[in-house]
Amino acid sequence: MESMGSLRRTQYCGEVSMANVGQQMTVCGSVARSRDKGGIIFTDLRDTTGILQLVFDEDTPRDVFAKAQSLKSEYVLICRGTLRERAAKTDKIATGDVELYVAELRVLSAAETPPFEIRDEVPVNDELRLKYRYLDLRRPSMHGPIVLRSKICQVLRNYFCEQHFCEIETPMLIKSTPEGARDYLVPSRLQPGHFYALPQSPQQYKQILMLSGFDRYFQIARCFRDEDLRADRQPEFTQVDEEMSFVSEDDVMTVNEGLIKTLWKEILGVEVATPFARLPWQEAMGRYGSDKPDTRFGLELQDVSALFAASEFVPFKAALGAGGSIRAINAKGMAATLTRKTIDKLGEVAKTYGAKGLAYTRLTEEGTTSSFEKFLTEEEKAALHTALSAETGDVLLLVSDGDWVKACTALGQVRLEIGRKYGLIDPDKFNFLWVVDFPLFEYSEQEGRWMAMHHPFTLPRAEDMDKLESDPGACHAIAYDIVLNGVEMGGGSMRINDPVLQDRMFKVLGFTEERARESFGFLMDAYRYGAPPHGGMAYGLDRMVMLMLKKDSIRDVIAFPKVQNASEPMSGAPELVDEKQLHDLSIAMEKPAAKA
Ligand code: AMO
Repeated sequence: MESMGSLRRTQYCGEVSMANVGQQMTVCGSVARSRDKGGIIFTDLRDTTGILQLVFDEDTPRDVFAKAQSLKSEYVLICRGTLRERAAKTDKIATGDVELYVAELRVLSAAETPPFEIRDEVPVNDELRLKYRYLDLRRPSMHGPIVLRSKICQVLRNYFCEQHFCEIETPMLIKSTPEGARDYLVPSRLQPGHFYALPQSPQQYKQILMLSGFDRYFQIARCFRDEDLRADRQPEFTQVDEEMSFVSEDDVMTVNEGLIKTLWKEILGVEVATPFARLPWQEAMGRYGSDKPDTRFGLELQDVSALFAASEFVPFKAALGAGGSIRAINAKGMAATLTRKTIDKLGEVAKTYGAKGLAYTRLTEEGTTSSFEKFLTEEEKAALHTALSAETGDVLLLVSDGDWVKACTALGQVRLEIGRKYGLIDPDKFNFLWVVDFPLFEYSEQEGRWMAMHHPFTLPRAEDMDKLESDPGACHAIAYDIVLNGVEMGGGSMRINDPVLQDRMFKVLGFTEERARESFGFLMDAYRYGAPPHGGMAYGLDRMVMLMLKKDSIRDVIAFPKVQNASEPMSGAPELVDEKQLHDLSIAMEKPAAKA
């Protein structure tokens, strides 16, 4: 093994071009691959910016050539040479026009044969990749997104700072508060039996910062939620968190449209048209069966309830009797694709989301087959076909349920499945929209009480103030979610800055005065000393990067993600700790723990 000696990098591999031909330069990195062709050796050197081909031949000093012969994949090198034009150019790499003719070479670290080939073209099993994350992150397709994530942070920092925002860190060890997801708890050594919680978001602190007069805050904030993983959900994730004083919801949305415009332009070179469409929650649910609609394709849901007001068909009658809805989709011209078998599979999707089933009618050249039309009157059948503009070749899909949200959601998921499976979605589109006018509360059967749909500090619409106690279900929030291509990329709201109103909110949410004080006392006190009107929002940074880079999972844009059982395969966290550590924390295990 050698040291770098007096050699120091003058250039990054991926940043040289024809403009540098003839120059002496020093580069460093790892061997992506080395090919010994007898009298000539070609070595691809990889650094964080890309790959540069090194060349050694019979005119290379003998000791250097001998060292080059010993090079293996992943050896770490520094070398000096002259950049020259390549005889056999390639457009496979950005520096494919040039190569470095090496005069001096130092091998800084040898490498064992890695457990998998570190090349994008070679498929590798996920488990192995996560265990050897440090190797996987060397692959350009894994490396690039992490570098770009850093650039995204830089652009958004600049944007916020230009807009008078102040970047402020908030604590990681905080008080556990009710509502929201399950907290990660951290035991206190100095106060036995007491626990901190890791923040699910900096929500209360950022509101306090507005009361402290900082006017506009942002933070790239780590957040923790002990909830099940999904492609767009990790227990540990990052928010781009912001809060603004003396603003309305329009101001917040405008500043954020500017942010998106800047990011998409600077990172992707894409012009995003603003302002974004605003879709009331009710309409989003009604038309797309989702509060985060993917508007890149049609297949919109229609409300056909009115056609069946007098129907004797039991499921329809029951749904409407319970105050629910009958929703329908016309999958135009898809009869050949949506066979009985595929419709059965779609039915399973509907059932996963709580529907009792998926009713269908297939209108083919050979005739019409339907799971339910034989139970309708001729008039009802005709009315349905007219309402949905049904023609030969179409497939009508219906869900009825006593619960409006359930009917919409189940058919909305069927819509998405059809869109994804049958290529109706244009992957090149970026469809942004705001979903607004959310209900303020949702009723939890499990808890037997009203819960805040966002959080307890969300400002109700002015026109709903007198309905808070009498009709919570009819109240709306001044809240907004930013949705991109069917993913909730971020969300926020205007906040309550009146302590009297905040008290009323807690009461509707079923908090006793004592419990509200216990949980949120510091915030309630703070509001007694003058609070500017304020509001804000937070993006999931991981989701934002995933969507910008068109990745399928946020795992691909997080350097060290967790897996399904919330463990981190490279380090092995979480891990058992020894008795002494537990003792120091005054924690006793009920029974000896075994590693999951
Ligand atoms: P919310 O809970 O909607 O709002 O979170 C804001 C955004 O954070 C992202 N997000 C997640 N990303 C990855 N993994 C998770 N487990 C996860 N959970 C949430 C989503 C989401 O839109 N304090 C409020 C914001 C506010 O009102 O200002 C909040 O946290 O992209």
